[in-house]
Amino acid sequence: MVEEKFTEEEKNKLPKHVGIIMDGNGRWARSRKRPRLFGHRNGVENVRSVVNSAKRIGIPYITLFAFSSENQNRPEEEKFGLMKLLEEFLKRELNAMIKDGIRLRAIGNLSELPKFAQRMVEQTIEKTKANTDWNLTLALNYGSRQEVLEAVHSYSQQTSPNSQKPNWEDFEKHLQTKGLPDPDLIIRTSGEFRLSNFLLLQAAYAEIFVSPLHWPDFDRSAFLEALKNYVSRERRFGKTSEQILPIQAS
Ligand code: FPP
Repeated sequence: MVEEKFTEEEKNKLPKHVGIIMDGNGRWARSRKRPRLFGHRNGVENVRSVVNSAKRIGIPYITLFAFSSENQNRPEEEKFGLMKLLEEFLKRELNAMIKDGIRLRAIGNLSELPKFAQRMVEQTIEKTKANTDWNLTLALNYGSRQEVLEAVHSYSQQTSPNSQKPNWEDFEKHLQTKGLPDPDLIIRTSGEFRLSNFLLLQAAYAEIFVSPLHWPDFDRSAFLEALKNYVSRERRFGKTSEQILPIQAS
């Protein structure tokens, strides 16, 4: 039983929002002498298992970096294959998402996705929008810099030049992640220590965990290990937990 892996104290420290950079599908496939799409297909299977684990452990928000705006530079065949996998995944999971109370959201520029994928994402968002228990966000054709540029534009249009000093609480409402808490933990698979344009501002205070495993191998026990590691950390948000002692007069 997963819950037994955490003490009561640890359970209280579990992250509310985990962002995952699912890296290494290509390398996973290459090491098996198979095409890259075989890696992506196995990666999709893993999405379902990690989302289910998050639900069982009690993590209400998961955001997955499924397709970056930079991934648009990949070969057409790979991009098309990824979009077909996304469509297939959403078709297959829709009923379970409705039954289990999972709300789907998407961040990123959906209008540049193929129409069939766009439609499927929009329909799933619509059909799950009344769900409140669990929240799955897919970053699709997403890039944090682009998101921030658009947010700055929209914020500046709504703020008159003489209004008070800009503040974060007002500004963050212009980000595509509006309504989501900041991620507490960002997991990246495949041993790469990079954020790659993922939630750059939202992750300002996130803890980062890098797993050496490629995404299709990042199973339930690897996810638990990341969470165990997270709950063992002290989050200070720029403050100190040390007691400030008065300076001794010499
Ligand atoms: C990184 O592996 C992974 C991606 C670019 C795509 C991730 C997408 C999925 C797992 C499938 C779609 C998602 C959903 C939610 C249905 P890589 O190709 O960059 O691997 P490499 O660095 O080893 O080449």
